Amino acid sequence: MSAQPVDGSRLEGVNKTETEPLVLGIESTCDETGFALVRGHELLVDRTSSSMDQHARYGGIIPEIASRAHLETFLPTLEQALAEAGVKLEEIDAVACSAGPGLIGSLTVGNCGAKAIAAALGKPLYGLNHVIGHLAVDQLVDGPFDGPFIGLIVSGGHSNLLLVNDIATDIVELGGTLDDAAGEAFDKVGRLLGLPYPGGPHVDRHGQAGNREAIKFPRGLSRPKDRIEHRWDFSFSGLKTAVARYIETLQREGKELPVDDICASFSEAVNDSLTSKAIDAALEHGIKTVVIGGGFSANSRLRELLNERAEAAGIEVRMPPLRYCTDNGAQIAALGANLVAAGLPSSPLNFSPDSSMPLNQTHIVEV
Ligand code: KG4
Ligand code: ZN
Repeated sequence: MSAQPVDGSRLEGVNKTETEPLVLGIESTCDETGFALVRGHELLVDRTSSSMDQHARYGGIIPEIASRAHLETFLPTLEQALAEAGVKLEEIDAVACSAGPGLIGSLTVGNCGAKAIAAALGKPLYGLNHVIGHLAVDQLVDGPFDGPFIGLIVSGGHSNLLLVNDIATDIVELGGTLDDAAGEAFDKVGRLLGLPYPGGPHVDRHGQAGNREAIKFPRGLSRPKDRIEHRWDFSFSGLKTAVARYIETLQREGKELPVDDICASFSEAVNDSLTSKAIDAALEHGIKTVVIGGGFSANSRLRELLNERAEAAGIEVRMPPLRYCTDNGAQIAALGANLVAAGLPSSPLNFSPDSSMPLNQTHIVEV
């Protein structure tokens, strides 16, 4: 079965005569094969193929299926992107690809393709940190970053708070999850409730119809001791266990599950932790802006609560539109354009993908 195209977009009004370099971004960390073209901070095209429909029946991503899907869809998706933008491959000035963190097989397929394009064109290749790309993509919509910001990365694999002094050169990791990522916790609760995989969007939808105050679920790392030792960290496994126990108890008693209320109360506990720490980090570091990114930043309650709390604290929030929250080529092209503009060295062509690339490393500079 071949992978399905899930979206395609082209921003209007792009001036192709501009002198800024044209950067091709290639995404292949997980189940999405993405290509995008960015000139400066302008997105010319963004095409994604996803193999999610092939994984859903297994209740999780099967790495071998994802790798093969990248191989099948790499060239067709690239060709679609170029055709839609009206750009020839040889017009590209630099190639950027996700080099980690992610599934090593998926990254290997995408990185081999990216290296082949860069070598054939004789253009520089940048092996980038996919997670930082989740923040970089916001520039394509809200314009260039104009100073330091707190980055809240929330995805199926990450929940991190970053102090971003400069997206290309200076990122400090303040904290992260000690156990599950926010999206992962949502997917696990979705499974407990018998919702389809990935559960995150379903739990979000049920939560919108429920009562957030109905069930008192615990907030991770909220004891006074934890607040000092794990000031900027998150923990969601205790919360997930509390939800599992609540469900088991009702099932044992033969009672009907209040699915909407469970989702709303669980979602509130996760988003209370994420948003309070993001705002506190901005206030304590004297920073006026919070940027969110990653698949979980599509969560409706996260957006609502973060906006409410930021407004009360006098902090600006930048959040990419929903279609740029999940994995895409635009996030890679956007970050690639930042590195090119900063005049940073490209990656050596013999680099290997790094499945656990640290968050303070924006790109691979040596092997
Ligand atoms: O960043 P992403 O596309 O992939 C990586 O993990 O790198 O994030 C996917 C995660 C999944 O766990 C998915 O369930 C979650 O983001 N997600 C959501 C929502 N949309 C996607 N979780 C909660 N609410 C949503 N609306
Ligand atoms: Zn991602």
